[in-house]
Amino acid sequence: MLARFLRPYLVISVLLLATLPGVRSQEHAPATAFRDLPLNSNLADPSIEKRVEGLLKQMTLDEKVGQLVQYSVGTPTGPGTGRGGYDEMAAKGQIGSLYNLEDAHAANFYQHIAVEKSRLHIPLINGLDVIHGYRTEFPVPLGLASTWDPQIVAKAARIAAKEASDAGVRWTFSPMVDIARDPRWGRMIEGAGEDPYLGSAIARAYVRGYQGKSLSDPDSIAACVKHFVGYGAAEGGRDYNSTEISEHTLREVYLPPFYAALEEGSVSVMSAFNALNGVPSTANPFTLMQILRKEWQFPGLTVSDWTSVAELSAHGIANDGATAALKAFTAGVDMDMESNLYHEHLLDLVKAGKISQSQLDEAVRHVLRVKFALGLFENPYTDESRENKGPLSQANLDVARAAAERSFVLLKNEQLGSRRVLPLSSDLHTVALIGPLADDAQEMLGSWSAHGQAKDVVTLRNALTQRLGADHVVYAKGSDFLTATDEQINAAVDAARSADVSILALGEDAGNMTAEAGSRAHLDLPGRQEELLEKVAATGKPAVLVLFSGRPLVLNWAFEHIPAVLAAWFPGVQAGPALVRILYGESVPSGRLVVSWPHSMGQIPDYYNSLSTGRPATDVDVTRPPHGIKEKFVSRYVDEPNAPEFPFGYGLSYTEFQYSSPQLSATKLSAKELTSDLHTRQSSGRTVMTVTASVTNSGKVSAEEVVQLYVGLRGTSVAEPVRGLKGFQLVPLAPGETRKITFALTPEAFAMWDIHNELRVEPSLVRVWVSKDSQHGQPVEFVIIE
Ligand code: NOJ
Repeated sequence: MLARFLRPYLVISVLLLATLPGVRSQEHAPATAFRDLPLNSNLADPSIEKRVEGLLKQMTLDEKVGQLVQYSVGTPTGPGTGRGGYDEMAAKGQIGSLYNLEDAHAANFYQHIAVEKSRLHIPLINGLDVIHGYRTEFPVPLGLASTWDPQIVAKAARIAAKEASDAGVRWTFSPMVDIARDPRWGRMIEGAGEDPYLGSAIARAYVRGYQGKSLSDPDSIAACVKHFVGYGAAEGGRDYNSTEISEHTLREVYLPPFYAALEEGSVSVMSAFNALNGVPSTANPFTLMQILRKEWQFPGLTVSDWTSVAELSAHGIANDGATAALKAFTAGVDMDMESNLYHEHLLDLVKAGKISQSQLDEAVRHVLRVKFALGLFENPYTDESRENKGPLSQANLDVARAAAERSFVLLKNEQLGSRRVLPLSSDLHTVALIGPLADDAQEMLGSWSAHGQAKDVVTLRNALTQRLGADHVVYAKGSDFLTATDEQINAAVDAARSADVSILALGEDAGNMTAEAGSRAHLDLPGRQEELLEKVAATGKPAVLVLFSGRPLVLNWAFEHIPAVLAAWFPGVQAGPALVRILYGESVPSGRLVVSWPHSMGQIPDYYNSLSTGRPATDVDVTRPPHGIKEKFVSRYVDEPNAPEFPFGYGLSYTEFQYSSPQLSATKLSAKELTSDLHTRQSSGRTVMTVTASVTNSGKVSAEEVVQLYVGLRGTSVAEPVRGLKGFQLVPLAPGETRKITFALTPEAFAMWDIHNELRVEPSLVRVWVSKDSQHGQPVEFVIIE
């Protein structure tokens, strides 16, 4: 391992730079061509390796096991914590990591014990789920991804790293990069949606932000990419449920964002709860050993999920704790989060020869590398005066507001009279603000808010009142999440009647209906909120629905009858100001969907990059029951169209954009050459084709468009998605302005996992779209020859 690890080759990272001012381009240069990971600049320092080996030599077996043990101290984030007496254990060198510590003071308390009392003075690594902010809360990850803006994601992660490290946290269990195709699964909120390319770009951005220029900087924190792997494919969308994913789909869809995060330098990986094709992910040698360690040569740390080692018994592959520990450890899980089973059994397993000394050493190396890279041996303690107990800084709030504005997706905006409903006209003097989410500060913090505080939040009600004055805002909650009285609903209807326009802030309760263990079988507006919406709309006054949710909701009536709908996710501390700026047109919506928005529950799972099937419903009217054989025997429902309510990539603006047909720089490429490039790190990032298209802002306001490039391959050894995202750029355009947008495509854009599960470029007919979402645009074609 060491030789490979220190291999002196130059890694050339290819940056595809934007050529036009203001165009935020593909600086994330995603690669899906798995090969050995490049040297991890955080872990590759030869002096680290020397110190790791030096320390290993001095360690007893007991101390080695201690490095592989982790417990939660503080607010638990799962059921049934491991044990107690962590101070005594730390003094004996029996703990490698603690997490969920409340603050810098608590972190220092345990760190002093570990460093000063344990024989070898090995510091602890303190972890926490810093998911979308530490105290300055940003939009939930699904919202952050909907910005399609890796730069703002990286900025948010950097701020989170600074705040977390000031509180003694040096390891976050983020990013969650699980591809999610089923909105019933509550954890869709924690990821970047359904697409591996976008998911990879966003994963990289988090890692860059958390780990900064160097992990040893005191304001950097170690990233932990999770949950390895396939967790998002839980059957029926039910959390923790099993998954069945073919190796092809695993490699093509679920693994790329993990690889991208690791290529970007993430120093740790968390194993998942789910069983994948029958093998629990925390004891899966194929994913943890074969792929992660052998194929990718990952040199960092793997940690289980919360008690997932112990859960091997419930999965049915271990009848006692020792077997569970043995199976998880030998499959490749270095650190046991919370189960207490490594602490109880690993030593005996080594003594009994079931685990070799060198296997144990290798796991300890993974842990120590990360601790040395973080500079924990030099700087184990946190300066407690660094932790901000006062108000949030303006600079951080500005990023939080910008991120929130960019995360909103405008789903519908009808013309009413001479203008569209949004942006709201200043002629509308009185606004009725209705709904359980209009003034709930805690909810705005989203699903996993670390140390976010409700007092830091500006709600929609606060911000609207600040803008219009209290006399012009009639607030009526109308309903709680699950219940409402007739009086509440009637008061809201009265408020709507008395106003010029209603803004309805409706949706899910982030804490109870989204995220972990937040699966839902009914994706409607909970409680009586639908009734509230319909009754308010029946007043005949214009209505705007601001929908707060951790996933798309199936709201047919609303999409048919409410003239304007904005998906706001959960926007973070600056929810109110960001929403008001969008609602009044001071900022123009630029967020785009990162998941397909289903039209009915029966369509789920519904994702844009599906396969064609042998009987596609292409030229058939699927909006009515089939008439005759031609309409019947195709892949369709007899009672529901196939198309989603809104496709992946979709989002409206306050202007319109026109696209020219794309132009390709070549009409033919060679499969052989591209495949050979793909497997050579230095040339894999080589531009093999450019695609250009002109995009025009044909409306009246300046706005940003997310220009999307899709590729579809036909004639390959394995059926490939109808189309798949291979590039995107955020392009600012003034009214009337046209810009020529260029995408530089590398061999990866045409690569696929073939029938033998090998990555290559195959001879094929290639279609290329440059379009505003995954359903529009006219493709141009070219061929890849032998
Ligand atoms: C369980 C969750 O699945 C995981 O994402 C999280 O990091 C751990 N708990 C620790 O809180």
